[in-house]
Amino acid sequence: EQIEKGGYDHFMLKEIYEQPSVIKDTYRGRLLANQGIIKMSGLEDNLSKFTNADRIIIVACGTSWHAGLVAEYIFEDLARIPVEVEYASEFRYRNPVITEKDVVIAISQSGETADTLAAIKLAKQKGAFVFGVCNVVGSTISRETHAGSYTHAGPEIGVASTKAFTTQITVLTMIALRLANVKGTISQSDYMLQLRELESITSKVEEALQSEPKIKEIAQVFKDAANFLYLGRGYNFPVALEGALKLKEISYIHAEGYPAAEMKHGPIALIDEQMPVVVIAVNSNHYEKVVSNIEEIKARKGKIIAVVTEGDTQVKQLADYIMEVPATPESLTPLVTTIPLQLLSYHIAVMLGKNVDQPRNLAKSVTVE
Ligand code: G6P
Repeated sequence: EQIEKGGYDHFMLKEIYEQPSVIKDTYRGRLLANQGIIKMSGLEDNLSKFTNADRIIIVACGTSWHAGLVAEYIFEDLARIPVEVEYASEFRYRNPVITEKDVVIAISQSGETADTLAAIKLAKQKGAFVFGVCNVVGSTISRETHAGSYTHAGPEIGVASTKAFTTQITVLTMIALRLANVKGTISQSDYMLQLRELESITSKVEEALQSEPKIKEIAQVFKDAANFLYLGRGYNFPVALEGALKLKEISYIHAEGYPAAEMKHGPIALIDEQMPVVVIAVNSNHYEKVVSNIEEIKARKGKIIAVVTEGDTQVKQLADYIMEVPATPESLTPLVTTIPLQLLSYHIAVMLGKNVDQPRNLAKSVTVE
């Protein structure tokens, strides 16, 4: 097992550090940025299903559901296709409205999650076209779907999903960009820029990983907190949910993820000097709004840990601690902002002496209801 961990203390840390290379594996041969080409056979063979779709319904569970939420922003923003993201477990029992004009995308690392599989079967019965985004080759979901694109994350052993999440986002981003290009909902120059930026995201993920020593210090300060709040907006709202999920999964600290603007409708009541608030405050359309959320937290003496873009000055002045990530177009920010949150939860869990790779009560793959 020590050998399999490749010198890392835990599989989770190894998998966090594998992200630059597995993201590259995921787009290798599919993304030719200089030529403006995205080519994924599962998508190309069924392109008209997507371009003619009335809407896309994404079904998934857990971290994969968070990747689906990120995809909702990307698909709607770039490809102008309406998207609904559903917990597979709710979808399957809701008597959902599904037609032949719907495309259902099922996202699953393992390809074995019982609820996701049941949602797929239901969608197929109703005549929808079902597309899979799976990591495990030959898994049940990859076989049950009409077509799909694999993520190439390699085996993920840590129960808390890390590299599966970022590679899912990579695949979904490529799908959205290809559809946007075909539909003409993105300008050629923006399309080319996004492709180049996606190709260079691996070095930015690498750079984000370099903050680990600083993140470890932050973990040391907050490891005994009883609660955490995670806030983000737009593309980074799902990242806030995922950051909170990572923390609760492996450290057993209660954490909630919220869209930053919803803070005033509830979570703000929880804020006092005991409450660490992780705010994703990278450069984006929402930057100024997030800054005012930070001011509101500060006014109530909450402790602010902010994920900021390198070179940021405004949030830096307000926050108690910052974790820097490189600048990238807004649609790609989840791929970098996720990294410090993974490392933060990892280090807190290690410091608390928890079983990071196999947290209590959780399973890597939930094949029962
Ligand atoms: C379990 C795992 C999570 C995972 C979820 C969905 O809860 O512990 O890490 O996100 O199942 O799994 P899937 O394999 O369908 O992505």
